[in-house]
Amino acid sequence: MTKSKIISCRAVAVLVMVAGAVRGETLRELAEKRGVLLGSAHSGRSADAKYLDVMAREFNLVEPENATKFGPIHPSQDTFRFETADAVVAYGAAHGMKVRGHTMVWHQQNPKWVTEGGFTPSQLSEILHQHILTVAGRYRGKIFAWDVVNEAFLDDGSLRETVWRNKPGIGLEGTAYMEQAFRWAREADPKALLFYNDYSAEGMNKKSDAVYAMAKDFKARGVPIDGIGLQAHLMLRSAGNLASIESNIKRITELGLQVHITELDVRIPVDAAGKASAADIEAQGRLYKGVAAICLKYPLCTAIQTWGFTDKYSWIPRTYPGFGAALLMDGDFQPKPAYVGLRDALILAPK
Ligand code: G3I
Repeated sequence: MTKSKIISCRAVAVLVMVAGAVRGETLRELAEKRGVLLGSAHSGRSADAKYLDVMAREFNLVEPENATKFGPIHPSQDTFRFETADAVVAYGAAHGMKVRGHTMVWHQQNPKWVTEGGFTPSQLSEILHQHILTVAGRYRGKIFAWDVVNEAFLDDGSLRETVWRNKPGIGLEGTAYMEQAFRWAREADPKALLFYNDYSAEGMNKKSDAVYAMAKDFKARGVPIDGIGLQAHLMLRSAGNLASIESNIKRITELGLQVHITELDVRIPVDAAGKASAADIEAQGRLYKGVAAICLKYPLCTAIQTWGFTDKYSWIPRTYPGFGAALLMDGDFQPKPAYVGLRDALILAPK
């Protein structure tokens, strides 16, 4: 066959695939054909039937946005509140979705009884150990992957000061406190995949270098770590960083570790009514497509998850006033160019 015939056959094949999707294949169907996990954070709003229907239609992976964090799930020393987490896990099971857990060791959303309890390092160590055994133990076999440690590095690559590390910490220096948490998580659920998760560490920079060095060291010494979560809370200017994101995914997967894109969203400027410009919404679609396409090039980049899917529910407007419209669908669950971009990446990705 001549080169031009091969090119036109490819073009026809792409058109046929796109036409198939236009006929109504959901993101979930396309992800399942492609053998990748496509997820969304679940806000815990179990009363919004439309929200729940659309999420199960479009995704095969779900993660509680807040419900499995230390504060919400362990609000006082002798009390665990599993209701919301149980509901999300049951929702995932009922719809054949995998469930990610988030997170054991973090500097935020810790309850006052932990941060202001005046505990000694050995007491805190016991508290964290029992917490991990209880929570990961409860969801053994139900939560397939855990962000064990979240956001432990600062942008300059140094270790963040936290209650678990050094304020007062669990009594272990450097990354040893994280290593301990990974070992406890493996003890609690030997089959769950264990991840380190962070933001602003998608591309090559001082923070991602520090994460990489930690992961390489853990891997070399048999510390139970299975992957790195790249949060990917992006802005339009992140588009200039796609090659750098690819280099980072490449080096992590070359260690034999998985990558999950864990919290993808792209915040854009909005007016007082929450409306963004058409040009920004289009550019956002291209960025979703670009990030997804990079992940799909690497067999060990096994999940792409967005931090919510409808602009009806997103953490962005209250955290970044003047920004919003960060997700795949608008507040009425209508697909945006971001949805189309993600869909096109799934359709066009090399197998
Ligand atoms: O549930 C309480 C409610 O009872 C109370 O009345 C209300 C008053 O403020 O607060 C509610 O809790 C809020 C919670 O979200 C649930 O909506 C907290 O104030 C609020 O701080 C919390 O924000 C979450 C944030 O983490 C906490 O830092 C966001 O929803 C969540 O999207 C965000 O997620 C993080 C990831 O875990 C880690 N990566 C960054 C990402 C974005 O910050």
